[in-house]
Parts: sequence; C-alpha cells; structure tokens
Amino acid sequence: MLYKLVNVSKIYKNITNENYALNKVNLEIKEGEIIVILGPSGSGKSTMLNILSGIDNPTKGKVYFDNKQIDKLNDKQLTNYRKDNLGFIFQSYNLVSNLTVKENIELGGELSKNSLKLKEIVKEVGLLPYLNKYPYQLSGGQMQRVAIARALVKNPKVLFCDEPTGALDEETGKNVLKLLQEINKKYKTTMIIVTHNPSIALMANTVIKMNSGEIIDIIKNKEVKSALDLRWA
Ligand SMILES: Nc1ncnc2c1ncn2[C@@H]1O[C@H](COP(=O)(O)OP(=O)(O)OP(=O)(O)O)[C@@H](O)[C@H]1O
Ligand SMILES: [Mg+2]
Repeated sequence: MLYKLVNVSKIYKNITNENYALNKVNLEIKEGEIIVILGPSGSGKSTMLNILSGIDNPTKGKVYFDNKQIDKLNDKQLTNYRKDNLGFIFQSYNLVSNLTVKENIELGGELSKNSLKLKEIVKEVGLLPYLNKYPYQLSGGQMQRVAIARALVKNPKVLFCDEPTGALDEETGKNVLKLLQEINKKYKTTMIIVTHNPSIALMANTVIKMNSGEIIDIIKNKEVKSALDLRWA
C-alpha cells in the first residue's frame, strides 16, 4: 500500500467544543491509482489531503507512506518527504507572474533527484509554443497546464489536486483531466483529486465519499471513463 491511515482523527478545539475535521478514519491507497475524494463543504476533504501530504499532523492515529510512519516526522523530515515524493496542483494555479512559462516549470524541477526532462513534460502538456510567454498571456487551461508541468518535472510518486478544474469551463476542464489521465498511465503517478464535481468520479479507479469528517463510502469503479466522455454536473 502506498498510504495507510489507521484511526486518524483531526480535532480542532475551542473553548466550548471539539470539532472533528476527521473522525477515526481508516483508509488504504494503492500505488498508481486515480483517487477522487468527494463530499460537501466542510466534510474534511482538504484536511485529508493535508494529512496525507504531511502539511498537517493528525491529532490521533497513524499515517503510513510506503510502510513508513510519517505522522511523527520532524519538520526537516517532512520537507524531505514532500520534496522527494509529492506534487501539488490547486484551483488557483499559483504561478509566478514575473517568470516565463519555462521558468515557472523549472521551479518544480530544481528540488529533485529523479526529475523528468523539462522538454518531455512540456511536450506532454502541449506547452512547447508557450515556453517564453508570461502567465498573463495564457488562458486558464494553459495556466493550469503550466502548474501541472511544474508539479510533474520532478516525477512525483503522488500528485495532489485540490479542485484542479474549479476555475475552468467544461471543455478546458475535461482537457486538463484528460491530461492527468494520460500522465497517470504513462508515469504511474498516483493521483489524489479533491472535487465538488461528482462527474469527475467516473474517471477514478477509487472514489472516496466523505461527510462530517468520516468516510461514508468507498467505490471501486470497474470501468474508468475517459475524461473527455464525462458529463459535467
Ligand atoms: N484550521 C482550522 N481551525 C478550525 N477548524 C478547522 C480548521 N481547518 C478546518 N477546520 C474545520 O474542519 C472541518 C473540515 O474542513 P475541510 O477544510 O477539511 O473541509 P472541506 O471538505 O475541504 O471543505 P470545502 O469543500 O469547503 O473545501 C470544517 O468543519 C472546518 O471548519
Ligand atoms: Mg477544501
């Protein structure tokens, strides 16, 4: 298993009450899968991503990555864990506005030992003609592709995506998801995608449904749809 969560709770306390952002969650995630996490606002999706990616520590329970316990790591060890294994894509692309496309992508590669060649990734995401443009000269879909390329140059084991198509129209969103699907096939990158859009669940191998800090259902899709065939909710 790539990830294993054992009785993980994340509790926020204030003077009057305790809020369980995650409530005794048990979960296993297989390497190479596309995982989609669905659930209403406040159900614990981002908290789950933060715990898996070592941005946050659980209040209780254990988190394993590659059979190593990561919830007890110190800051330096956590930084190394993220640097060596993880990539991130967000709804807002987080590009550096005074750097070109090429320079933005290079930011992702500097950190890693097993980087992919920048040229290969740029071709893969269809940005070859845009290398010397600046973010303001790009469409939303193109900006998201730069963010994807930046996350991928270091060839991460896991790519975390929080609402990756939230700022995109249907057609652009589907094309971005198609790209993620192709990357998953080609590089066996495990993808953990958080979304409000239930249509996206059809392109996942595994769908995790959350509510009130709990996993209420885990669905294994027998058939996986191409992103281009999704019907947008
Ligand atoms: N830093 C914090 N302090 C206190 N409460 C928090 C904190 N972060 C999250 N919470 C609470 O934990 C619960 C889960 O939040 P989380 O952000 O994981 O939800 P979400 O499913 O990602 O929601 P959304 O779809 O709106 O992004 C919510 O009730 C939220 O208010
Ligand atoms: Mg969230």
